[in-house]
Amino acid sequence: MSPHTTATGYVEDVSPGRGTLPPRAWYASSDAASLSLNGRWRLRVSATADAEDDAFAEPGYDSGDWPEVTVPGHWVLQGDGSFGSPIYTNHLYPFPVDPPHVPTENPTGDHLRLFDLPGDWPAGGGAMLRFDGVESCARVWLNGTELGDFKGSRLPHEFAVGHLLEPSGNVLAVRVHQWSAGSYLEDQDQWWLPGVFRDVTLLHRPAGAAGDFFVHASYDHVTGAGTLRVDSDVEGRVTVPELGVDVATGEPVTLPVEPWTAETPRLYDGVLATAGERVPLRVGFRTVAVEDGLLKVNGTAVLFRGVNRHEWHPRRGRALDLATMREDVLLMKRHNVNAVRTSHYPPHPAFLGLCDEYGLWVIDECDLETHGFVEQDWRDNPVDDGRWTPALLDRAARVVERDKNHPSVVMWSLGNEAGTGRGLTAMADWVHGRDPSRPVHYEGDPDCRDTDVYSRMYPPHAEVERIARGLDGGARRRRGLPLILCEYAHAMGNGPGGLAEYQELFERYDRLQGGFVWEWIDHGVAHPELGYAYGGDFGEELHDGNFVCDGLLFPDRTPSPGLVEYKKVIEPVRIEAGGTDGTVRVTNRYDFADLSHLEFTCSHQVDGMPTGARRLTLPPLAPGESAEVRLPEAPDGKGEEVQWTVEARLAEDTPWAGRNHEVAWAQGTVARRAPLPAVTGVRPAVDGDRIVLGPAVFDARTGAPRTLAGVPVRDLRLDVWRATTDNDDGAPWQPDTRYGLLWRELGLHRVRHRLVAVDADDDALTVRTRVAPAGREAGLRTAYRWTSDGTRVRLTVSVLPEGDWRVPLPRLGIRFGLVGATAEDALFWFGGGNEAYPDSRAASRDLLWDASVRDLQTPYVRPQENGARADVRWAEIGGLRIDGDPEFWFTARPWTTEHLDAARHLTDLVPGDTVWINLDHRQHGVGSQSCGPGPLPRYFLWPEPAEFSFVFSEPRD
Ligand code: GAL
Repeated sequence: MSPHTTATGYVEDVSPGRGTLPPRAWYASSDAASLSLNGRWRLRVSATADAEDDAFAEPGYDSGDWPEVTVPGHWVLQGDGSFGSPIYTNHLYPFPVDPPHVPTENPTGDHLRLFDLPGDWPAGGGAMLRFDGVESCARVWLNGTELGDFKGSRLPHEFAVGHLLEPSGNVLAVRVHQWSAGSYLEDQDQWWLPGVFRDVTLLHRPAGAAGDFFVHASYDHVTGAGTLRVDSDVEGRVTVPELGVDVATGEPVTLPVEPWTAETPRLYDGVLATAGERVPLRVGFRTVAVEDGLLKVNGTAVLFRGVNRHEWHPRRGRALDLATMREDVLLMKRHNVNAVRTSHYPPHPAFLGLCDEYGLWVIDECDLETHGFVEQDWRDNPVDDGRWTPALLDRAARVVERDKNHPSVVMWSLGNEAGTGRGLTAMADWVHGRDPSRPVHYEGDPDCRDTDVYSRMYPPHAEVERIARGLDGGARRRRGLPLILCEYAHAMGNGPGGLAEYQELFERYDRLQGGFVWEWIDHGVAHPELGYAYGGDFGEELHDGNFVCDGLLFPDRTPSPGLVEYKKVIEPVRIEAGGTDGTVRVTNRYDFADLSHLEFTCSHQVDGMPTGARRLTLPPLAPGESAEVRLPEAPDGKGEEVQWTVEARLAEDTPWAGRNHEVAWAQGTVARRAPLPAVTGVRPAVDGDRIVLGPAVFDARTGAPRTLAGVPVRDLRLDVWRATTDNDDGAPWQPDTRYGLLWRELGLHRVRHRLVAVDADDDALTVRTRVAPAGREAGLRTAYRWTSDGTRVRLTVSVLPEGDWRVPLPRLGIRFGLVGATAEDALFWFGGGNEAYPDSRAASRDLLWDASVRDLQTPYVRPQENGARADVRWAEIGGLRIDGDPEFWFTARPWTTEHLDAARHLTDLVPGDTVWINLDHRQHGVGSQSCGPGPLPRYFLWPEPAEFSFVFSEPRD
């Protein structure tokens, strides 16, 4: 390996660094002084690690013409692009795999900050300089004296600096290299973003200050007693006034307490007082254990309704402020998420403080991934090479020591996609030894040698069920462990589909303890021309495109339909139609809480119109219990459709949402709508080049409608194409069933419509066509039969597949243009309100809705099929009413599907002067194949004979 033989030898040195202090708990003191060094720093970026000498670190150095950047920040996201650009790769290293060497072209940012100590900075004592995150390798000087160097980007590093501080004119110099040996350990699927991206803080250390300490706070669910013991390097006293606790450090105390859980995040404020310092403690009593093959907290098996969270902000990258972290936590809580895996590195420590406070289970993951070695069958993997073990152990220690006092952290994760090997085992051994109170997680070892839970990513439903039933075989150790899906349901673009079916399995089988959707937020980079940039937009030579935009939130943190769906699927109260008419069955699916914090109401809707809500009274239901509840009398719909909606809302304000926030809901049918009446009686009349049929006018030659109920329309015809979604296109490692590609290969995006006949007879105008792509025999015989009663016109479409169809269809319905309509046009409909597809429709709620065409567009960062509304009974737009028989999928766009399909960024889409309407009889499912399995077979749209109708008329007042 590369010793420190040259001035920059440390960059390629596999050791974790030199000169830093041992890792310890992270805390903000109550009384010791501190000085934030965040703010404007001078920056000089050079092309190589050794382009400049270290003269800049000397006091008196003139950095006059250096530009300024903000710390915390990434230099490639600041300035005008002259500091370089971000690079996105999924698992490929963006440099030759030649460990521990990194390219000679190694962007290096020399950072300079001058500071004075505040006037009241205490005399005496020492001081520490803390870096909470620097990517990827830093060398540090204070007042011309070198302090040392470190690697481990998302981990804290501290130096003792008291002896070097001056009252004023201190010069802090930090040289940051983008690439280092550490980069081999940080191959997470995300942007490579160099910089000092977390806080830099100077901490006064008074004589007798606290050092490291470990809060042990367990809970005995049998006796209801908590036991607190604070082990501290520096002796002192521990007080928890609310509990009357006042004990010496190291001394245990047992007493009745309320436990901490993610549902009931009870914290007790305390203080650790040493001779020189008071440290605030937030104590949460809970005990985590894997027992009887289950992961239990306080004796109860928990179900994770989780998300994988990378730190992301579209302008600041991984430099998150507290407000953004809080927004994440609030959004999670408001969407019924109860768990976070901090993929794939420890987050900013303040995030964990928020998880303690608001209540989220956390799997805290170490900053470790070596995925790129998979390309060479894991040969030379640092995780199985003893020379790297000290670096791995250093990383493990830095995360555990930093975060060990957070009750929200219930598991340690060794890292992600790093293969297996002795280094990983050494980490697991160390973690188990240092903190036996928390289980250890790691997904990459199928034998679970080093772990306490069995973890998988992206298994199909059927396999999850096999594991649940113990039919998967595998190592003996593994068979006795609970299953956690550390990643599932890839939320890239439109989707994921299949969430509800996973949740059913999780709720059915004890061994399944839930999972973590991949992932929380799209990592789109705000970009002046592109809206949000993704891989390739910065000219990277290797990149993975928009695979970096696979979150439940859009980059600006607007929830995507995927998050709305997830919220519904994981709701902690299940409401279903009851065993007898007029009742519902309510099940408490919390693990710890009863339902007393919720208010239940029922309202009935007649043809989508709510008739007023009434309170429901429920018996107190303990976790797991159900009750059958009678609903108020339903109104007589007089032939119209009648539905009930039951909602569970917060009865009181909570720290994370106000009173009335909806937690769970369900709908059911009381009376179905009457079938649409026949629309007949008027004969088509040929009038020159037109055929007139009631309120519709057709082209006599082609049979295509020109106006419907007086509204000009164009190009009405069968449509089977959708702008393929990321999940349609699938991931490259799923070569066989990537239907997005197979559809295009077959030519479904360029089908031709051959006119066979236009027949106007006594009671109908019938247009017969054959719809098929060039070069193939497969086609769809399609007949459009138009009838009218004088005020309305009814279209019945019959489709008969011919030839050899080997793929499902993307969609089956009609499309037409509303000439002269715009994106701002208003739309009214009765049906599902949110975007929905066959396997992502749990959150589709029937009601009367209104929106503009623009509002219906879902802004997936890479444009693709979006915006369908499910179960639409009728819709009105641009002076036209459309009733469906049966219900249909409604989509309206201010551009064509072809434009949508061709667009790479949202800014490529420009509204035109026609609104394009799709009325679909069926849609193909969405699935999760951009990384995981495709749609379940039941959501496939196989070509088969089909018939469906629409009635067009003028809107009803
Ligand atoms: C997993 C990986 C994640 C991410 C995801 C796909 O294999 O752990 O980091 O790459 O796939 O988006």
